[in-house]
Amino acid sequence: MNKIKQLEQMIKSSNNIVFFGGAGVSTASGIPDFRSKDGLYNTKYEGNDPEYLLSRTCFIKEKELFFKFYRDKMDIRYAEPNITHKYLAKLEEIGKLKCIITQNIDGLHRKAGNKNVYELHGNIHKNICLSCHKSFTPDYIFENKDIIPRCDCCGAFIKPEVVLYEEPLDHIILSCANDDLQESDLLIVAGTSLKVYPACHMVLRHKGKIAVVNLEPTAIDYKATLVIRNNIEDVFKELYNSTTV
Ligand code: OAD
Ligand code: ZN
Repeated sequence: MNKIKQLEQMIKSSNNIVFFGGAGVSTASGIPDFRSKDGLYNTKYEGNDPEYLLSRTCFIKEKELFFKFYRDKMDIRYAEPNITHKYLAKLEEIGKLKCIITQNIDGLHRKAGNKNVYELHGNIHKNICLSCHKSFTPDYIFENKDIIPRCDCCGAFIKPEVVLYEEPLDHIILSCANDDLQESDLLIVAGTSLKVYPACHMVLRHKGKIAVVNLEPTAIDYKATLVIRNNIEDVFKELYNSTTV
């Protein structure tokens, strides 16, 4: 049996699936990943490492540079869900998928229709005034006449609800996501290098079946029941066209 058929069988025989994903899930929607050869972290921006530009230090100390980079590279407002997002939405609808845990900040799983989504790193769609907590749309950030957007009520700075380097993850989201993940009987890990804490730890503790779909090897491959080293889009297109959902 080919590997995609094997994954199809694993999905058929499970009713408590958790999908754990990363940037590779959204490359087919035109959003580059971080650590591949052409990924965001393999480029410099005006001489700076993108890891610095997405850090709390940069946000605090060099707001203009932060927002210049953010507006230039993180404007993913118009990205659309791809076949993987759509397949997962169907899987939730028929009651097989318990939740999605994603490191992506693009909001595409919700846009595709998934309801149970843990966004470990937040998303670009919420932006909050650091003083009065008024909420702003991404358009307000990306189209503001001032590079550094300020609250139109109180004048304070606004921060995208994206978890930056040096910032903690929301512990409630983390603990709920972890509970669901550990209870699942099938964990599908896709499109993530698993190089970022706590993603890696959460996944490594899982005791049930694991299926990995990723172009490059990951830290969990040695524990996985099935490893598919393929393009995610191709894998999920085949699943989508199968009879599973
Ligand atoms: P990475 O860029 O580290 O890993 C993406 C993985 O997906 C790589 O192993 C690629 O080989 C694989 N990949 C890419 N496109 C693929 C495709 N079409 N088919 C199959 N595999 C593919 O991205 P993440 O693991 O998501 O944080 O990175 C984790 C976090 O690091 C991100 O959430 C980001 C970054 O700092 C924030 O934005 C806050
Ligand atoms: Zn305010």
